[in-house]
Amino acid sequence: MSDTIETVIGRRIWDSRGRPTVEVEIRTVAGASGRAIAPAGASTGSGEALDRRDGGAAFAGLDVRGAVSSVNGEIRDALRGYPVEDQLGVDRALVELDGTGNKARLGGNALIATSMALAHAAAASAGLPLWRHLAATAKPGPLPLPEIQILGGGAHAARRVDVQDFMVIAVGAPDYPTALDWTADVYRAAGLILADAGKLQGVADEGGYWPAFDSNEEALDCLMRAIEASGHAPGDEMAIALDIAASDFGRGGRYTLARDGREIDSDGLSEMLLGWLARYPVVSIEDPLAEDDADAFARFTAAAPPRVQVVGDDLVTTNAARIAHCASLGAGNTALIKPNQIGTLTETWEALETARAKGWGAIVSARSGETEDVTIVHLGVGWGIPQLKVGSFTRSERMAKWNEGLRLAEQVPTGDALPERSAFAWGDS
Ligand code: PGA
Ligand code: ZN
Repeated sequence: MSDTIETVIGRRIWDSRGRPTVEVEIRTVAGASGRAIAPAGASTGSGEALDRRDGGAAFAGLDVRGAVSSVNGEIRDALRGYPVEDQLGVDRALVELDGTGNKARLGGNALIATSMALAHAAAASAGLPLWRHLAATAKPGPLPLPEIQILGGGAHAARRVDVQDFMVIAVGAPDYPTALDWTADVYRAAGLILADAGKLQGVADEGGYWPAFDSNEEALDCLMRAIEASGHAPGDEMAIALDIAASDFGRGGRYTLARDGREIDSDGLSEMLLGWLARYPVVSIEDPLAEDDADAFARFTAAAPPRVQVVGDDLVTTNAARIAHCASLGAGNTALIKPNQIGTLTETWEALETARAKGWGAIVSARSGETEDVTIVHLGVGWGIPQLKVGSFTRSERMAKWNEGLRLAEQVPTGDALPERSAFAWGDS
């Protein structure tokens, strides 16, 4: 007989920005349990599931006592007795119980923590690691290729520079541990370069250096020098990835650049970014245009060199319908997959499947507000998602995920292998 849900416990805990967040623990009748924690974005897309926050004076209105009580009340009452392996049924019940289009009533934070906790509980009940349980509906992949932040900007660093994430991808690494080794080299080199130049200001929300630069190009040049100083060949071994997060500084086809306050239009921004793609070994660029600028996003995608993947984050918000729509426009060719943007694992899976059906790539991603939760690493492996984006190579909420990958490398049939180059848009270049 299948194991069933005995109880659902909501708990108020704290995230990496020192803000309250929701943890959910699900216990089964047979004595298994699973636990998961909701992350939180800062540069969120308007199409995302809405977290339930209390408002008021405490913690700048960001407390989650209401969301926790929805777990300990309505959600617990609704889920008691469900078969623990019925992820689809539970996720549907959660969406129906919430009853809003954007999960605002019970809270996207309450729902995603519950949905992920269920997967953990089902895996524990079956005596399986989470990645293996998830692989029941998919072919488990090799370890995903890391996309790791070196410098942080944008909304995560008080808009010192426009671009939110200056990242590296170890495109030439023979395996997952080596990709981390090379990234550690670049991170260290970047720190030395910044300190020497007197430009080191601290770290941004995801742990990347927060440099006192006067332009985006200065940051790109610093990243290039760090790659060169690390001894890994720029482009062939270590490539650059950018998250422009353009929705944070543009609306209605107008973009305001942080340092000089200059306004440019969609074509001006595209031209500037295409110039960077021509001058630097960039293989991935995320949200180059704002979420309300899909036509310009499509023109940019068509104009970008074939070696570059164009990633939609705020544009598609892990939403199957939005991914399908953007694919039909040609806006982007890769979906960022963030489970809390949509609110349940089942809908996250639907977004991933839609991306695949449209011939898009996929990157499973953490948020800027994170915790020790490592569910997304298991999603990456269990669902065969070829890339993983977690922030920088420092701070334990980030390292918990990179380190979990090292543990999973001991369990998966492919060991520490990374996806074939053909799994990426830059595979043929
Ligand atoms: P967020 O940023 O978690 O603050 O939304 C991450 C991203 O834009 O990719
Ligand atoms: Zn993004």
